[in-house]
Amino acid sequence: MVHITAQNMKSVHQPYFQAENVLIYKNNILEVDSIPNNSIDLIVTSPPYNVDIHYNSLNDALSYEDYLIFMQKWMEKCFDLSKNEGRFLLNIPLDKNKGGQRSVGADVTNIAKDIGWKYHSTIVWNEGNISRRTAWGSWMSASAPYVIAPVELILVLYKDSWKKTGGSRKNDITRQEFMDWTNGIWTFNGQNKKGAGGHPAAFPIELPKRCIKLFSFIGDTILDPFLGSGSTLIAASIHNRKGIGIDIDKNYCDIAIRRLKKEAKIDENNLF
Ligand SMILES: C[S@@+](CC[C@H](N)C(=O)[O-])C[C@H]1O[C@@H](n2cnc3c(N)ncnc32)[C@H](O)[C@@H]1O
Repeated sequence: MVHITAQNMKSVHQPYFQAENVLIYKNNILEVDSIPNNSIDLIVTSPPYNVDIHYNSLNDALSYEDYLIFMQKWMEKCFDLSKNEGRFLLNIPLDKNKGGQRSVGADVTNIAKDIGWKYHSTIVWNEGNISRRTAWGSWMSASAPYVIAPVELILVLYKDSWKKTGGSRKNDITRQEFMDWTNGIWTFNGQNKKGAGGHPAAFPIELPKRCIKLFSFIGDTILDPFLGSGSTLIAASIHNRKGIGIDIDKNYCDIAIRRLKKEAKIDENNLF
């Protein structure tokens, strides 16, 4: 039996960490109730991929059907949290190859659209990771070959209106960055575990950095509902946006805080 104490309540409903322009909640995204609806300008996130990664606090090997139900629930929650002009940059796999072939990218896009998210486009992230190539199916035979694309997707979705009229309208993207990043094939390496403080499934800071500079104004509020090692909040902080992060796992929240202090020079004494 779980005894609800004042300390437990505090740890779930109050920020686990608070600093200038940074808030972290140690909680389940489905249970967060401290973030007002219609308050988020940009969501940048990468949910669990359901590929049996050994996270501390999570079963990452649900049935595909249960996984899609989970995806639907948290994307609904994020829809409510988003402003009408809010954008949603969702990093997901293109396909799932383990335990049966699945069109994850297409299925999640359809669920997002059913919720009400509007589709803008898809960025293809070329991770350049061919080392994962272990399964060929039928080697050099048309019998049953496997085709695996070493890429991930970043879906570009929005709530209601694509054109941003609110916010500071101040940009910090350079001419070259704008030209390069509006080409929807992004090529940069994935993140190793060591560089992410030991987190097993981080994306590199380059990913949220590009999303934030291309799709938000200076001073906007950025949310990552699956904070992990804190990559999104580090990029938000370095680029003068406000950042809110949620992770169900205490150890990952602690990794994110350590990285924020080191890599974004966050000072805990200056409150959000
Ligand atoms: C793919 S990782 C995110 C990694 C992150 N983008 C980074 O760069 O470090 C997914 C994270 O979601 C967290 N998580 C899983 N289920 C959650 C839930 N229901 N609510 C909040 N966090 C959850 C896991 O603990 C894990 O850290």
